[in-house]
Amino acid sequence: MNFDAYKLISTDFSPLPSLHAGDPVIEWVDRFTGVEAVAVLVGSDGEVPAALGLDREALARAGFTGAAGGTLVVPTSEGPLLVAVGAGSLGELDEHALRDAAANATRATKGKASFGLQVPELDMDAETLGRVLAEGVLLARYAFTPLKNGGKYTALERVQVRAGRTNATQAADGTGVARINARAANIARDLCNAPPSHLTAVVLAEVAKDLGERFGFEVQEFDREALIGMRCGGILGVNAGSTQEPRMLKLHYTPQGTPTGHLGLVGKGIMYDSGGVSLKPSDPMHLLMKMDMGGAASVLATFTALRDLGASAEVTGFLMCTDNMPDGSAYKLGDVLNTRSGLTIEVKNTDAEGRLVMCDALTLAVEDKVDAVIDIATLTGAALMALGQLTAALLGNDQELIDAVRTSAANTDEQVWQLPLERKYRKQLDSDIADISNLGGKYAGATTAALFLEEFVGQTPWAHLDIAGTMQSDTNDVWRSKGATGFGTRTLIDLAQNFSRR
Ligand code: BES
Ligand code: ZN
Ligand code: ZN
Repeated sequence: MNFDAYKLISTDFSPLPSLHAGDPVIEWVDRFTGVEAVAVLVGSDGEVPAALGLDREALARAGFTGAAGGTLVVPTSEGPLLVAVGAGSLGELDEHALRDAAANATRATKGKASFGLQVPELDMDAETLGRVLAEGVLLARYAFTPLKNGGKYTALERVQVRAGRTNATQAADGTGVARINARAANIARDLCNAPPSHLTAVVLAEVAKDLGERFGFEVQEFDREALIGMRCGGILGVNAGSTQEPRMLKLHYTPQGTPTGHLGLVGKGIMYDSGGVSLKPSDPMHLLMKMDMGGAASVLATFTALRDLGASAEVTGFLMCTDNMPDGSAYKLGDVLNTRSGLTIEVKNTDAEGRLVMCDALTLAVEDKVDAVIDIATLTGAALMALGQLTAALLGNDQELIDAVRTSAANTDEQVWQLPLERKYRKQLDSDIADISNLGGKYAGATTAALFLEEFVGQTPWAHLDIAGTMQSDTNDVWRSKGATGFGTRTLIDLAQNFSRR
């Protein structure tokens, strides 16, 4: 991986995102050999593993109870670093708690190139156990390092897992799936963490084509001229104030055999959201607006997993990529944009740009006759205010599809919460001079944004994920590493993998 390229200005950027998180060897062993550290999962109940050489009372005296999130370095006179890692009540150690415990063990052994992980005997099938453990490790060891000179990041080379009588072959199958999931999520993280002047829409197109070749999907690139020809007035309006060209990227995955259905995915790809003429104030939150392409990143990352997981549905993705910048040529408040659907939009706030770039993609997905379409976007501060940084807002016009998204989100521990698509609020989007305006009222901003998008999906089943809150984590928190989270990637993979038309 040529990270040096990240140091150059955007035009010299080499379109190769990091794939480093998938690299360590993960083996299933009966005893640890040659590891630099050993992390022992300890429940808040049950027996304390003999490997620690301490009883529960001694651990408690040092302040370690086995509660989830707690860790304790146990001094030893020789051998690998020994760390007790709290796993919570063993009776409640389900797949999510185990993923979290593996992530905490990984963080507790951060400076080491190898570690052993001792897992208690659990009533969990070996494939699931192998998958969630490896996901916890690979997601927690992620760091965005290419722009740090002489950083302290130690790459993880080897993990040995001791998990009692767990069937090693089945566990290794699960680990293989985890590698694909974590690799995808970490690709999305890399793209979100990359600086906005390095990763422009044009550069993202190069990255997408490169990923498409490596992971078996097609990428069609649409430049400004092509977008004009297609009457995609939303993205063109938002792009007007940028010196960088816009790009729409259409991704396509064809499964082996007859497709079980056709799923459309749409991602908001605002490479940097300054707010445009409705300029954002300089507060720390807006430092994060390089991540306003988090939806597009998660859709692109999802495609990197489909072939390798043998997804059975046909999947078409649309990434709508541009900056939102103020300039003499920028779109203005009061401007009216023409969309591909024929609807006209009055711009009442240039910072409500996400819905403008996505509306034409929804129209195109419907024209492609997808069986269902899901969009994912860092769309509204209102979603962040309502649900915080752990839970994404979920809305849509079809409860069955919404429930499928909820199931996939629950499978992957990417939390979502459904908000009502209250159509009585639709009149807030009325415009005096156009068919619709891009700005709702003061309240229920996540809902009015979704109501705007709904105008473009017709009768097609549609679900909308607002990831404004969850795209980023302020701290290292279990599988979420500080910075971009790659949120939505694993949910969309889970969903796309098993998608079938009704
Ligand atoms: N990209 C922002 C939303 C956002 C806010 C993402 C915070 C992540 C963290 C979006 O384009 C935006 O600015 N939305 C406005 C919409 C408003 C003008 C209707 C918002 O939420 O304030
Ligand atoms: Zn905005
Ligand atoms: Zn935005």
